[in-house]
Amino acid sequence: MKNIISLLIVSVFISISAEAKEGMWIPILLKKYNIEEMQQMGFKLTAEDIYSVNEACMKDAVVIFGGGCTGELISDEGLLITNHHCGFGAIQKHSSVEHDYLTNGFWAKDKSEELINENLKVTFLKGMKDVTETVLGGLESDTEGRLDSIQNRIDKLVEEATKDSHYSAHIKPFFHGNQYFLFVNEVYKDVRLVGAPPSAIGKFGGDTDNWMWPRHTGDFSLFRIYANKDNEPAEYSKDNVPYKPLKHFPISLKGVKEGDFTMVFGYPGSTEQYVPAVHLKMITEQVNPALIDIRTQKLNIIKKYQETDPAVRIQYATKAARISNSWKRWIGEIKGLDKLNAIDKKEKYEASFQEWANDKDYANMLKDYQSIYKTYGEYKLAYNYLLEVVYRNGMEAVNLSSQFKKLKAAYDKDEIDIDEITKLKTDLEKRLTSFYKDYYKEIDKELTTIVLKMYKENLDERFHPDIYKYIDKKYKGNINKYVEALFSKSIFTNQEVTMAFAKNFSAKDVKKLDKDPAYQLFQSFYKTYGKTIVPKYKKLSAQVKDLNSQYMKAQMEFKSDAVFYPDANFTLRVSYGKVAGYEPKDGVVFKNHTTLNGIIEKDNPDIYDYRVPARLKELYYAKDFGQYESNGTVPVCFVATNHTTGGNSGSPVVNANGELIGVNFDRAWEGVMSDLMFNPEQCRNITLDIRYVLFLIDKFADAGYLLDEMTIVK
Ligand code: ARG
Ligand code: ASP
Repeated sequence: MKNIISLLIVSVFISISAEAKEGMWIPILLKKYNIEEMQQMGFKLTAEDIYSVNEACMKDAVVIFGGGCTGELISDEGLLITNHHCGFGAIQKHSSVEHDYLTNGFWAKDKSEELINENLKVTFLKGMKDVTETVLGGLESDTEGRLDSIQNRIDKLVEEATKDSHYSAHIKPFFHGNQYFLFVNEVYKDVRLVGAPPSAIGKFGGDTDNWMWPRHTGDFSLFRIYANKDNEPAEYSKDNVPYKPLKHFPISLKGVKEGDFTMVFGYPGSTEQYVPAVHLKMITEQVNPALIDIRTQKLNIIKKYQETDPAVRIQYATKAARISNSWKRWIGEIKGLDKLNAIDKKEKYEASFQEWANDKDYANMLKDYQSIYKTYGEYKLAYNYLLEVVYRNGMEAVNLSSQFKKLKAAYDKDEIDIDEITKLKTDLEKRLTSFYKDYYKEIDKELTTIVLKMYKENLDERFHPDIYKYIDKKYKGNINKYVEALFSKSIFTNQEVTMAFAKNFSAKDVKKLDKDPAYQLFQSFYKTYGKTIVPKYKKLSAQVKDLNSQYMKAQMEFKSDAVFYPDANFTLRVSYGKVAGYEPKDGVVFKNHTTLNGIIEKDNPDIYDYRVPARLKELYYAKDFGQYESNGTVPVCFVATNHTTGGNSGSPVVNANGELIGVNFDRAWEGVMSDLMFNPEQCRNITLDIRYVLFLIDKFADAGYLLDEMTIVK
């Protein structure tokens, strides 16, 4: 097996400035590939301080927070910090019009006031190991039953790794299946909400400033991990005690300046650094423009209602943020790739690759990509477009109706199992309650209308479900009229009726469900999804995956003396770089830091995203900055050159001494194409300065008692 080496496709084309360092590196391989360079850049610790098998180290203070974020321990009593947008779901669930923690913030005055979160967990990495030999040894790419053999070996390794312990384990492919690593984890399930600033701080700038620099978002929230008396994971119990971590981060008040070393340690989700030019073409010309359009429409509708009704604002806050986040990133990504001439660069690289590959097994690889991507693009678009229409806040009531499928199936059985039905009903009622808490019929009606129209216009007829024929026949193709009728006839647009329907559901209601227009609409799309789209899309995806695996291997042979880093795959990684401003466009220079002054500058009571809380303004005008002051103000955010992506949110950002200087939460607009191609001149991660966090806890929230348990370095 080839060594792990970093490819840096881009470095072939762009001269890298001293500050920039592309790559998301594997913790157990730092010693081999990175630590020397890190130390040259200023890092004062060792590779073992970051990751060690036997000693307490930084990795013991980093967790997966929930399902898609990172968090870090900041006290020896299990106190954890992550982003506000990562804790958002939990904060929102505890919020109502009476207790509006989103608007007002929340601060537990002591441990007894901390709020329990059902289904929130944090995951510690206990250890990782290269298991490539065991997984792949003796298997050639054409060995019969190869995939099954791999799966069997993986299952066995996982079983061995977790025998006689409460740990969990999984194995993940790296370098598109050319390497495999085993991860052993410990999952804690009692995680309580300790504090969150008001959204006007934690989400300051909202979707307007999202993905942008200069930034002023106080994007953090605090939680506490609880354990049983043996410090082990346990379900919630009032007898649980604060978890004692092996390690927590000391916090530095010293701040950072241009050129200072920074390191991000967290869980980047997914990148596609090694794909061919046709892939970039598909994304930038075919798939993403269509997805951007449909989301633009959804957002316009939701925004319109949010602006007139505060209750609707709360109801649709999470949904709108979710829709908007990828939407905005896709737009930036297309711009960034374009400015970088990314397709052109990949094509030039591919020309030299081809020359090298001509007399090898890899000779036809790029041609194979070309031929498969024609169809792959069509199906990828159809697949994602259908998800946008049916599932991802496209048609809410219609999607909800599908929740009754299991109940229906339970009655379709020859022998009816009453226990099963009772359980299904209880689950369903819970789900319905949480659905309707955030449901607004008028929005859904407009959404349903627009997505049905767009689907018809933008996808080829072979992907149209039968329902369109029905609409043509019964409503002369008038989608407005059809949706109007659906919303007045379907039971699912009415909470009380639906709740009662679930509660009293019996055999005779199966027919009623089948006849409901929302359910019929769902079924019609579902049939297209299951019959026309998914089978073919899956087959094509598997072929592409296989090609990617071979192409990765080939590229590593082609550039055999380069050092490659693996694409992100939501495993723990190290990114390192330096604090650095940048030039977003001709004639403009961005500084590396923002301050409280900028928050006051943006203050505008007429714009929801820019309403600064009165208390924060008071502190500003009284210059009551305490020990968090720097140059007559309070630092708020900074940018650096660390290579990060989605999932890195909430990651610790540490200085040369390994002290926490901030919490990672975003990337700058000009560089969001870094998932596909990194540009050291433009790619910046955005970090919340820890001094602003402490200032808010101490001065703004008057929750200074929380600082007592932290280790603060002055
Ligand atoms: N862009 C950041 C990330 O991808 C923050 C997202 C949450 N904020 C928002 N305004 N939607 O996670
Ligand atoms: N905001 C992202 C996250 O939630 C981070 C990024 O994409 O840079 O993980």
